Amino acid sequence: MRIAVYPGSFDPITNGHLDIIERASKIFDKVIVGVLRNKNKKPLFSAEERVDLIKRVTNHLNNVETASFDGLLVEFAKQHNANVIIKGLRTVNDFEYEFQMALLNKTLNDECETMFMMTNSMYSYISSSMVKELAGYKGNLSGIVPDEIIQNIKDKCKQ
Ligand code: PNS
Repeated sequence: MRIAVYPGSFDPITNGHLDIIERASKIFDKVIVGVLRNKNKKPLFSAEERVDLIKRVTNHLNNVETASFDGLLVEFAKQHNANVIIKGLRTVNDFEYEFQMALLNKTLNDECETMFMMTNSMYSYISSSMVKELAGYKGNLSGIVPDEIIQNIKDKCKQ
């Protein structure tokens, strides 16, 4: 069985992320979306909320599961018997950091391959931080994040 993990902060999930998940779900038998719990920056949504939002918008994909994780990505992948890490690349700016991470993860676990998917050009300008900034200015989020979660983002930005 080919199992892949798709890791990230997903604070919140965007249409760019969802596009990668949908495409990866056609290639792999199972895709585990891994939500990183602790990062230095304080997230807008708690890990539980981020997992919940992802589960809602991936409900139509029966080979996709979502779980949060702490610690090393390669350990999370191992726990789920995944030997592929999927990363999305939007622009050339993403490349250097992702290249470094891929090499480091390969050193940590030689069995685990990082595979890159090019973002859909429609979504190449979208990032979770842009979504948060836009939501803070009460900008229109439709087409940028899945419709089902727009209200959750608006509500969170009001708090
Ligand atoms: O969406 P992001 O914030 O760009 O995702 C980054 C993520 C979660 C993929 C990355 O920070 C990560 O893999 N963190 C887990 C810790 C780890 O394994 N780091 C690499 C070796 S130090």
